Amino acid sequence: MTVSIKTPEQIQKMRIAGRMAAETLDIVTPYVKAGVSTGELNRICHDYITNVLDAIPAPLDYNGFPKSICTSVNNVICHGIPDDERFLKEGDIINIDVTVIKDGFHGDTSKMFTIGKPSVIASRLIHVAQESMYRAIKLVKPGARLGDIGAVIQKYAEGERFSVVREYCGHGIGEVFHEEPQVLHYGKKGTGMELAPGMAFTIEPMINQGRRETRLLPDEWTVVTKDRKLSAQWEHTLVVTETGYEVLTLRDDENFSRTEAG
Ligand code: MF3
Ligand code: CO
Ligand code: CO
Repeated sequence: MTVSIKTPEQIQKMRIAGRMAAETLDIVTPYVKAGVSTGELNRICHDYITNVLDAIPAPLDYNGFPKSICTSVNNVICHGIPDDERFLKEGDIINIDVTVIKDGFHGDTSKMFTIGKPSVIASRLIHVAQESMYRAIKLVKPGARLGDIGAVIQKYAEGERFSVVREYCGHGIGEVFHEEPQVLHYGKKGTGMELAPGMAFTIEPMINQGRRETRLLPDEWTVVTKDRKLSAQWEHTLVVTETGYEVLTLRDDENFSRTEAG
């Protein structure tokens, strides 16, 4: 398994792409309200990415994916396809996943939104998914292992009596959307590849309210929970630095520091 090590020049390009992906989530946020269609959210992001950022929405035509972002509502785990018939309603939860390509490099990030007042269980699921990602990011530094990341996510999420999706994982990222290594969201501490400065990858845990099993819908993209219960996901793109990590897709609304140094 060969993992590319990014040069400082490449990391600078990834900073820009990462910031643009984060900014796209910022600009779509005010539109994520009851009554909007996921197709409309797709158009807003697409137009911003192409017209304002002069960037490329990576999902569009990626392995045949038909839209520019993924919108995953309620029991949809990931890769939900935006459409003009799906209108958000009070109580829904939705993940919006944005990936942009700028100057040849990818930035990939997603966040959860709640429509109106979420149920207690939905809020808790969303919080646990985000916290699991943050706990994993904090472990990233040279010499740490990929298994440390999976283990902390699994331990925390299962300790909260939720489950971790196995079939989909984080990934190396750079000039290629999905490259090595695979970043599993479960596993054993002290196992797996050792991290080194210049590695760039995503951490994007999918946490289910009920059982971890997944089902692929006939559209061959939409992944749902087999038990039809809720799923939540958050994603950041990060790079391993000499001393720890740098989150390339951090947003201003997050109470988390961009690097391990604060
Ligand atoms: N953004 C997703 C990820 O985090 C991948 C979406 S691929 C698509 O890796 F084709 F569904 F858009
Ligand atoms: Co990703
Ligand atoms: Co993504």
